[in-house]
Amino acid sequence: MTTRTVHIKCFGCQMNKLDSSLMASALQKRGFKLVEKPAEADAVVINTCSVRQHAEARVFSHLGHLKHLKKTRPGMIIAITGCMAQRLGQSLLANDTIDIVVGPHQIPHMPDMLIAALENGKRTIAVTDHIRKPDDQTALERLDTFEIAHDSDKNHIKSQAYVRIMRGCNNFCSYCIVPYVRGPEISRPPQAIMEQIRKLADQGIQQITLLGQTVNSYAYRAGNRTCTLADLLQMASETKGIRWLRFVTSHPGKFDDSILQAMAKLPKVCPYLHIPAQSGSDRILAAMNRGYTAGQYLDLLAKTREIVPEIAIAGDFIVGFPGETDEDFAATADLVRAARYKNIFVFKYSPRPGTRADERLADSVPLDVKQQRNHELLALQNEIAADCSRRFLNRTVEVLVEGLSKKPHLNNPESTGQPQLVGRTATDYIVVFNGPESLTGQFINVRITKTSALTLFGEHV
Ligand code: 5AD
Ligand code: SF4
Repeated sequence: MTTRTVHIKCFGCQMNKLDSSLMASALQKRGFKLVEKPAEADAVVINTCSVRQHAEARVFSHLGHLKHLKKTRPGMIIAITGCMAQRLGQSLLANDTIDIVVGPHQIPHMPDMLIAALENGKRTIAVTDHIRKPDDQTALERLDTFEIAHDSDKNHIKSQAYVRIMRGCNNFCSYCIVPYVRGPEISRPPQAIMEQIRKLADQGIQQITLLGQTVNSYAYRAGNRTCTLADLLQMASETKGIRWLRFVTSHPGKFDDSILQAMAKLPKVCPYLHIPAQSGSDRILAAMNRGYTAGQYLDLLAKTREIVPEIAIAGDFIVGFPGETDEDFAATADLVRAARYKNIFVFKYSPRPGTRADERLADSVPLDVKQQRNHELLALQNEIAADCSRRFLNRTVEVLVEGLSKKPHLNNPESTGQPQLVGRTATDYIVVFNGPESLTGQFINVRITKTSALTLFGEHV
């Protein structure tokens, strides 16, 4: 029998990247070969995101290409996995390009479904019926077994791996689809997490990123003891072979000091925090159901910097939330000025069916205004970031090398005849420098000779 080939395409966040890796690993163990091009594949898996309408539109446009390809490759199977699969369910099967639909809690079933479809054209769906109802124990155990059995580090940056510490979200920010497609917040047992971290360390992984939708609310109760994120960081820090630990994403609502203290005390925990504010207007923050004011958010950042002076902070913002006025937006710009972020991600509000914002509030801000605010906020942040990164000039920083730079024109070309590489500092700054590709996956020192808003440039020392 010839080897079956599969192409996996991933949209969306780190959670999805992790799920894609697990699925890739599971399929490889079932004899599939991963291929770069859909045109060479017997099956294509599209792992999807629902967080904005645009993300879903991209999947449909991709499906358009695959529809043509399928005509030239009879028997080719297309699977839709992830958040869109859970959100749209059965209706996706009405599209005859799609053969298989698998929600995020059902991915352990995906390989069997794919094989059945390839063998006898069976089109099937596996989504969770009542995603907000706690899964039965068997389903949870199945997910955890899948998580432990498969590799999360393949297809990623050498030396680095993601480890999920929790699933789902209970915050119900009014604009957000995540609680409806990824289900309630469930913290994974610390034993399972630690077992995975040790296994990855044994395989040569040196940087672990702990993943959760609101990673700071990690809490695993056993008897009268609760294991928190700070406890996990302490335990993971003691793992031989692990050099750097990160965790994303944090919610500013209930951010316990113990996490900051762990960051300050444990040298392996990187001084980096991704902690979205979403808006700087108290009125909008309340309408978003975020559970804090701009003042409280800035107080948290001030405390963070007091306890972890070197910290770099990143944030997310939504512009054009329903009813956002010029004054509200000015308050967001003020917050960005005060927060002095390393970088921010700005998103135009996108109504998501089923969320409270969509049900109760009209999408009142015109697209051109959203666009303008998006632009303005990024321009403002660009000036701040250029200023913040200057502190690195002439300093030598430790960098984990990720590999060849995708923009080889960035660095000065007069150097060594060696290719341009890219890496990251513990503070998550991108560093570009020249060196042999064999440095990929290693920790090295780079002296910074030039800085810009988003990138540091330097020389390997
Ligand atoms: N519209 C626009 N942006 C959104 N985000 C989440 N939901 C929406 C939405 N409906 C953004 C938030 C979040 C990031 C992952 O995506 O800023 O932090
Ligand atoms: Fe969505 Fe809010 Fe949960 Fe983040 S915290 S996943 S924005 S509901």
